[in-house]
Amino acid sequence: MKAKQIKPGIYWVGAIDWNVRDFHGYQTPRGTTYNNFLIMDRKITLVDTVKHDFADVMFERIRCLTNPEKIQVAVCNHIEMDHAGSWDKVMSVAKNATLYCTERAKEGLERHFDTTSWDIQVVGTGDRIKLGDKTLLFIETPMLHWPDSMMTYVEEDRLLISQDAFGQHYAQAVLFDDLVPEGVLEDAVIDYYANILMPFGRLIKAKIAELQKLGLEIDMIAPDHGVIWRKNPEKVIRMYLEMAQGRAEEGVVIVYDTMWHSTERMCRAVLDGILEEGMYAEVIKLRDTPMSVAIKQFWKYRGLLVGTPTLNNLMFPTVAEFLQHLRGLRPYARIAGAFGSYGWGGGGVREALSILKSMKLEVVEPGYEVKYRPGEEDYQQGYEFGRRFAQKVREYHRRVEKEVVS
Ligand code: FEO
Repeated sequence: MKAKQIKPGIYWVGAIDWNVRDFHGYQTPRGTTYNNFLIMDRKITLVDTVKHDFADVMFERIRCLTNPEKIQVAVCNHIEMDHAGSWDKVMSVAKNATLYCTERAKEGLERHFDTTSWDIQVVGTGDRIKLGDKTLLFIETPMLHWPDSMMTYVEEDRLLISQDAFGQHYAQAVLFDDLVPEGVLEDAVIDYYANILMPFGRLIKAKIAELQKLGLEIDMIAPDHGVIWRKNPEKVIRMYLEMAQGRAEEGVVIVYDTMWHSTERMCRAVLDGILEEGMYAEVIKLRDTPMSVAIKQFWKYRGLLVGTPTLNNLMFPTVAEFLQHLRGLRPYARIAGAFGSYGWGGGGVREALSILKSMKLEVVEPGYEVKYRPGEEDYQQGYEFGRRFAQKVREYHRRVEKEVVS
């Protein structure tokens, strides 16, 4: 296996994980990569490592260029184990290396590894180290997406090694953005942002503004997952800023589950009403769809309708799980409503609406409920509910877009 040059003297020495489909519960149908970089300067430098299982692959790539024992500078941008998991192996081989990381990363590394023999130097925003011809500048990015996170900027090459930010779970043999179909890449960026970075929108805006204030000219962004942005790094920055501002498409995603198909029948009526208003809509049945896909599709569109039967006076469990997941991601700038069937007491729709309100989303009430089985008159009610909801989405979308632009 070979190292791949991304800038003069800077090489990708990472690993491609074609087969991972469950990334700590996040479904990754395209697999992922663990990107890390070797800088062949007077002081040989390794920025980040790879997941532990892939350490041999990383060492094989490094050995194409040098003996790993010669690594003198180690940079740990982030301590999550998909990137930091091989530092024990690296530091046991590169005995003269100094490892640079944030204070919080040092604490984390000490909890994960026996670091008693490691030379660890804490760095913060604005600190620089000279490697020979190249200079590294560190920029802390706390909570993007862990407290320990930072980025490393190679000044002479205008290269930003951005750890998880600007990444995608996308395993391909190609390394660069211009070698991937644009739509596929955009989808992968939205997927990653929605499932990992959605809670940190405000921080993302502030951090991008800080990078701009620092006057960093960025010619290339190399994240720790997916392809490297060499043709169009501005594109992913723009996408991040827009998503951080809550930008979405005008449309509705209906996320539902069903026990005996009553809520599903209701879903058809609601969908007809939405489409009648000329609005785009998608339908996702939770038991047949990975959670991360439902989250991604939710994030793409302005409106969310949750369809849930009542089970034991509560929401159906898959719907509860979806809303629990969503709540943790702290969504914003979205409008939501709920519908569903019940047998005797009801409660599922009420609970869904209450949770949507607790997320401080714009909530359309009342929901649309049917006892037992929807009949003709219930169809009409669902159709009207769908039309009304689409109208509300359109009004809200216009309002929010104005705020985003201003
Ligand atoms: Fe890809 Fe936060 O680790």
